[in-house]
Amino acid sequence: MRMIEQIAASFTEELYRLESSLFRKDSEQSTAVQFTSSHFGEGVTSMTLGLAISMSSLHSPQSIVAVEANMRKPSFQEYLEIVPPHSIFEVFEENLPLDQALYEVPKFGFRVLTAGQVREGDKKIDYGLSLQHFRDVLRKLRQEYRYILLDTPPAVPFMDASIICKEVDGVVVVVEADLTRYEVVSHTLEKLRTSNREALTGTILNKRELRIPKLLYRFL
Ligand SMILES: Nc1ncnc2c1ncn2[C@@H]1O[C@H](COP(=O)(O)OP(=O)(O)OP(=O)(O)O)[C@@H](O)[C@H]1O
Ligand SMILES: [Mg+2]
Repeated sequence: MRMIEQIAASFTEELYRLESSLFRKDSEQSTAVQFTSSHFGEGVTSMTLGLAISMSSLHSPQSIVAVEANMRKPSFQEYLEIVPPHSIFEVFEENLPLDQALYEVPKFGFRVLTAGQVREGDKKIDYGLSLQHFRDVLRKLRQEYRYILLDTPPAVPFMDASIICKEVDGVVVVVEADLTRYEVVSHTLEKLRTSNREALTGTILNKRELRIPKLLYRFL
C-alpha cells in the first residue's frame, strides 16, 4: 500500500492531467478506461490504482470502480493490502451476484473487483470464456459507475488486452522509459487500435528518470 500511495502522491499533477484527458467533464456518461502495456512490469497496476486513489479525492469514491481484468498476474490484493471475500472468478464460475464481488477499499472508498491471488499454472482458468464474461460485467458496471478503470495484462504476450479493448472508451499504454523500444510501443498501439477504432488511445511514460533537476525541464 505504501508504494502505491507514494506513486499516487508523487504523480498528483500528472494523474490529474491524465484524468482530465480521459474523462469528459461535460458528460455524466459512464466511461471505461483500460490500462495495458507491451511487456510485464511496466507499471500498469501502479498507474491504474494510482489513478483510482487520486480520483477518489476529486470525485465521489462511490462513482469509481477499478477492475482487475488481469487473470495472468493479479496483484490488487497485495498492492492495496486487502483481502476481499470474493473474486471475479466466483462471478464467472459460480454465478455469484456482481454486487457481492465488489469490494470497497476501506482507506479510499472506491470499489474494486479483484482476480484474487496468483493462480499461475492453474489450468482451471478458461481465459477465453472469462474474457467473454468481462463483457457482461462491464455492461453491468456501466449502469452503476461513472468511472471504470481496468487493469489488463501486457498486450505482446497475451490477447486479453486486445479482446477487452473492444468494450472500452479509452486505452492507456504504460511504457517503461528507457526499456521498451519505440517500435514495440507502436506495434502495441496499432494492435489495440485495430481492435477498437473508436477508443481514444494514449501512452504514459513511466519510471522516467530525471537526469537534471525537475524544475529546469520547463526551460528546455
Ligand atoms: N512510477 C514508478 N516509480 C517507481 N516504481 C514504479 C513505478 N511504477 C511502477 N513501479 C514499480 O515497478 C514494479 C512493477 O509495477 P506494476 O506491478 O505496477 O507493473 P505491471 O505492469 O502491473 O506488472 P505486471 O505485468 O506484472 O502486471 C513494481 O515494483 C512497482 O512498484
Ligand atoms: Mg500488474
